[in-house]
Amino acid sequence: MARIFVTRELPGAGLARLGEVHRVEIWPAPLPPPRADLLRGVAGAEGLLCLLSDRIDAELFAAASNLRAVANFAVGYDNIDLAEAERRGIAVGNTPGVLTETTADLTFGLILAAARGLIGAAADAREGRWRTWEPAGWLGHDVHGATLLVIGPGAIGSAVARRADGFAMRVLFAGRGDDLAPRLAEADFVSLHLPLSDATQGLIGEPELEAMKPTAYLINTARGELVDQSALRRALDRGSIAGAGIDVSSPEPLDADNPLHGARNLTVLPHIGSASHATRSAMAELAVDNLLAALDRRPMPHPVTESRRPDSNRGPLHYE
Ligand code: DGY
Repeated sequence: MARIFVTRELPGAGLARLGEVHRVEIWPAPLPPPRADLLRGVAGAEGLLCLLSDRIDAELFAAASNLRAVANFAVGYDNIDLAEAERRGIAVGNTPGVLTETTADLTFGLILAAARGLIGAAADAREGRWRTWEPAGWLGHDVHGATLLVIGPGAIGSAVARRADGFAMRVLFAGRGDDLAPRLAEADFVSLHLPLSDATQGLIGEPELEAMKPTAYLINTARGELVDQSALRRALDRGSIAGAGIDVSSPEPLDADNPLHGARNLTVLPHIGSASHATRSAMAELAVDNLLAALDRRPMPHPVTESRRPDSNRGPLHYE
């Protein structure tokens, strides 16, 4: 029986299954464990089940000399120092596949919300600013028939593209090595589906936003750091693009005084791409499967290794 530290209570039955086999300690609070508590929690633990908000780095590995397995409750794993884990022989796993369709649903929700101003219109209706049916009120842009650029044509990007087919959209893709500028200039919607790495950080900055049409929208359901947020604020202020919908930001949550809060035509969601009951339960099951396998000295069903990092030039430049 191994000791496992879990950094948050999870939905579904996965953790109970883990508890039948191992001694599980779950961080009880709704907020992430402060660093000192995280380091205390992993000391002596052989397994760690962590979230994307936990930084799993060399300092943590040094504090966890018995650690053999880390299961991230996410498909993304930019919060984990994979090279250090590999150097120490610690297995790392993620939760691919099960959140693909749920994240694509949310992406499409953001596309519609941004283009049709749903959030602002709903607030107007609720807060008494809806006085009459207005011929020129709450005008947005059509989603049907528009051109969607998917940057990162992996599983999630492809699932978004399938939804776009139902809206009779023209879909363009951009992946590793593709020239972004001409595609950005053609798109009405630009949707990001890339993992965060040295290669993708700041991928969308001033030049990319300037290359977009003034009627186009930027959608980000991947990682906040893919976008230069100061450049995004300036682009929204100047009207270089029509709006943006972001489910992710840097940091998360945004501080109350973050300049993005005042931006025009920006919808910010609290990183809920995978947040459905069924999907979060399925993610917990995969994370537990990863831990059970590794602690039993079997290969994890969903391992991630340093050689699969996008910036290694061998790994995928998209979410699988
Ligand atoms: C992930 O899994 O990486 C998402 O960002 C959250 O589900």
